[in-house]
Amino acid sequence: MRYSSAYTGHYQREDTSGLSYDRSIANRFELAIFELEQVLLRDLFYRLRSSDPDTRYLDFACGTGRILALFKDSIRSKVGVDTSPGQLELAHKKVADAELVCGNLVTHPDLLRGRQFDLITSFRLFLNLEPENRVTILRALRNHLAPGGYLILDNHMNRYSILGLAALVAHKVFRMPKKPHVPPGRRGIISTMSDREIRRALSAAGLEIREVHRIFVLPGHGAFLLLPMRWLVQLEARLSRVPLLNLLSKNQVYVCTTAQPA
Ligand SMILES: C[S@@+](CC[C@H](N)C(=O)[O-])C[C@H]1O[C@@H](n2cnc3c(N)ncnc32)[C@H](O)[C@@H]1O
Repeated sequence: MRYSSAYTGHYQREDTSGLSYDRSIANRFELAIFELEQVLLRDLFYRLRSSDPDTRYLDFACGTGRILALFKDSIRSKVGVDTSPGQLELAHKKVADAELVCGNLVTHPDLLRGRQFDLITSFRLFLNLEPENRVTILRALRNHLAPGGYLILDNHMNRYSILGLAALVAHKVFRMPKKPHVPPGRRGIISTMSDREIRRALSAAGLEIREVHRIFVLPGHGAFLLLPMRWLVQLEARLSRVPLLNLLSKNQVYVCTTAQPA
């Protein structure tokens, strides 16, 4: 199958090293969000898989191994897939015992030799992928979900979060130019994705949403946080559970299974 993506291509360039990605997320705001993501993912692993160390686990678009490393000691069989050799080099340093596979599952459907996984995660991918590629990749992942398996993915910039709305207003009202990497067709100065968009893509790929978790309501940027880190993480753990208010969360995590035929 043909696959063309400026986003995937960006990470495949030789000068896009894993180090520059890790540096871009090594700031207080991203670390505060990651604190809550870690708690959520460990809790999901416990609830959905009873923390079974024999869970067959795939982290798709694993990059430098940020999510894969969370399960370093708790899952025996870990596979990371990514199209970027530069990102995988760092992942190997963080999770030496994981099997890392470099390649594109769309153009090479036999990349994983038809293996099935009980748990697949894919973080920080779908927001930036071109909409037409989202469904293609989701379908490829669904083919690797074992019966009763779970796919957990995120949208790390909800269009209707406080930051997402600010980006929209900045562009529409204050005519601020889009950031250089924002693909055509996006409406704010940064890339955002709505809940509706990802739901549509999941449904088109034959996936059913079982749970949605919302993380981080209050805005921040880089080193700037509205409160000291520890207080903020504690407050956010509560805010993220407040109905309606949590619709403004920046990150949204979707737990999906293969859709049952109607
Ligand atoms: C922003 S990084 C996220 C890495 C990691 N999942 C995380 O949460 O830190 C996005 C990753 O997606 C990878 N990627 C982009 N398109 C891909 C594709 N078609 N198949 C596999 N990986 C892809 C890139 O190489 C990059 O490592």
